[in-house]
Amino acid sequence: MPAVEIKPDIYWIGVNDRTTDLFEGFWPISRDGVSYNSYLIKDKENAIIDLSKAIKTDIFFDHIAEVIDISQINYVIINHMEPDHTGVLRTLRKLAPDLTILCTEKAKTMLKDFYAITTNIEVIRDGQCLSLGRKELKFFETPFVHWPETMVTFETSQNILFSCDAFGGYGALRGTIFDDQCNDLDFYIKESLRYYVNIVAKFSRPTLNAIEKLKRVPVEIIAPAHGLIWRKQPGLIVELYKKWAGYATGEAEKGVTLIYGSMYGNTEMMMNSVALGLSHGGIPVDIFDAARTHPSYILPSLWTKSAVVIGAPTYEVGLFPPVAQILEMAALKRVINKKAAMFGSFGWSGGALRAIKNIIEPLKWDLADIFEFQGGPTLKDLKKGHEFGVEFAKKVLSFKKS
Ligand code: FEO
Repeated sequence: MPAVEIKPDIYWIGVNDRTTDLFEGFWPISRDGVSYNSYLIKDKENAIIDLSKAIKTDIFFDHIAEVIDISQINYVIINHMEPDHTGVLRTLRKLAPDLTILCTEKAKTMLKDFYAITTNIEVIRDGQCLSLGRKELKFFETPFVHWPETMVTFETSQNILFSCDAFGGYGALRGTIFDDQCNDLDFYIKESLRYYVNIVAKFSRPTLNAIEKLKRVPVEIIAPAHGLIWRKQPGLIVELYKKWAGYATGEAEKGVTLIYGSMYGNTEMMMNSVALGLSHGGIPVDIFDAARTHPSYILPSLWTKSAVVIGAPTYEVGLFPPVAQILEMAALKRVINKKAAMFGSFGWSGGALRAIKNIIEPLKWDLADIFEFQGGPTLKDLKKGHEFGVEFAKKVLSFKKS
């Protein structure tokens, strides 16, 4: 994709990444990719807002060269230091050695730690403005959205908020960079939720603080560092982020995330009976085989649904490892206050239940129902599993988050 003019003299100069397999070295993006959106403002003085990961660097520098000579860059604004937005910084400084980096005090320290950069840095204060000539930029600190040094940049002539990670999402850009030209908004909303829960959710309180802080800023376009630019419906992505951040402590959607693992199919047989019971009980169910589904795809359900059913066999007097892994990830991401139930098979001794309790008790999950059985389930066990599902669905439907 070539550089795209968003408004007069304001350009998208980002990079579409469809070759990185794992975002942050962990989260799968091999199917749909991600974009690193960077922006160039051409004025008496020229500024670039956020950069790109050090990938496809020729494309990134070609984008700049489509608009101005690289040596004419006066400022690079680092909203956020994570290398998906700063990876090309050292190379850029070699090409434009006189440019000044604008960033927060914390980012200045990180510039030294990550890149050994200590010169040509100007620290900005919260609320400070910078005139480029005809255009003006205003900076707002938004700590922990996503790292402590983060800020956002507001362009005052066109009312564009360059929000970096905030309001971003996975998914490489599919031809257009704008929400109003996108024919599959549902895809980007789904990938924005996955991105939010994988990357930002632990910082939901700071996210809500940032939204509150910016609510009087007259934003007309939201230009994040990942995913679509929201120029038709900027309020949509803000409201979605607000809703998702609210799930950290508030009421989630009535529904069940059923996570299971099975060594020889016994717990899986029971899972089908329990799922049938949950459905007959009138509650929506998302089902995930923990051994075959990356946590990246399970976490959005865990985050947005009010209840969890864990189906896991005992494994070496403990919890089946793939299920343990997703529960530990839920703990890391602070998925708290869920209604929960557990079922599973054991061979000669239990152990899974104790391990589950150890993980979920600090998360304040209310373990309402437990159903363990030995070896393969009998027909009677399966009927019991169905009833277990029906009864738990009733509890979920009446559950109020405290
Ligand atoms: Fe897109 Fe926190 O980096």
